[in-house]
Amino acid sequence: MAKDRIFSAVQPTGDLHVGNYLGAIKNWVKLQNSGKYDCFFCVVDYHSLTGDMDAKKRHSQVFKTVAELLALGIDPEKSTFFIQSEVPEHTELAWIFNTVTPMSELLRMTQFKDKSGDQKKNINVGLFDYPVLQSADILLYKATHVPVGQDQVQHVELTRDIARWFNNRYEDFFPEAKAKLTEFPKVMSLLNPEKKMSKSYGDAHVINLSDSPEIIEKKIKKAVTDSGKGKAPGAENLMMLLKSFADKGTFKQFVEAGKKGEVRYGDLKKAVSDSISLYFNDFREKREGFLVDEVKTRKIMSTGAEKARLVAIETMDRVRKIVGVR
Ligand code: TRP
Repeated sequence: MAKDRIFSAVQPTGDLHVGNYLGAIKNWVKLQNSGKYDCFFCVVDYHSLTGDMDAKKRHSQVFKTVAELLALGIDPEKSTFFIQSEVPEHTELAWIFNTVTPMSELLRMTQFKDKSGDQKKNINVGLFDYPVLQSADILLYKATHVPVGQDQVQHVELTRDIARWFNNRYEDFFPEAKAKLTEFPKVMSLLNPEKKMSKSYGDAHVINLSDSPEIIEKKIKKAVTDSGKGKAPGAENLMMLLKSFADKGTFKQFVEAGKKGEVRYGDLKKAVSDSISLYFNDFREKREGFLVDEVKTRKIMSTGAEKARLVAIETMDRVRKIVGVR
């Protein structure tokens, strides 16, 4: 029997951070290595055009993101790993999906509302249409399982709706895709722990996987712990990071201390930064290797795109016929 197909993607926001890792990439690697799935992973550079990034920066960020994913263990021998713009069928399918998607449904998307708030001067049609391109990413490969964090569930549900709208209007062709939630979907910002860890608030809010041990220590030191309102989402966030990156013994020690109300935030912070530094030691070295050997890394990606296109071309051949343009 054929394996279930997985599709997931990240935007080329440059340096991946701990939130991206725990919320998504860690799980990708696990799914890939389980051998149970046919995995497609993608760096979505066309999605990034909807933001404010300039072209030069984008070009280098895409490459960096690729190097980082390879260094984290995305293995081009086991998965189909590629850059979205190297497979032009993504945007072609998105156009067709645009014509079966009601505007009213896109107006409900919370990410669109959030991002419109973040970039008030650049509320472009692409930002509005972003989830349709995302649906095309997934359905181009007829993927059925989409490993994502909680914040992307709405987009995966839309993907399912789009498949249905297409199938109802034309013929039964696209499968239903389901979100596959990860164990730690939400890592909070260091400085504003009420919000999800995101680069858009600034570099001090996130721990990049490539941050040196010195930088990690500095950032964690400044992390907010108590909000002063009886709640401590920042401290909870630090405990979650400790649980994710420290050895079990260390984590347990802090849990016990916490029960007695004896946790010193200084100690907790030190333990968190030490464990993160150690965890990504090997990653930092491998990342450097992929960055330095640019020709080889780019070749890996073009080979990945060729592999992806074998499927993409087949889907689009059928879709063009189904909608009556060929
Ligand atoms: N929107 C996703 C994010 O912001 C990225 C993405 C684009 C994606 N296309 C996708 C995720 C397809 C899963 C499947 O994280």
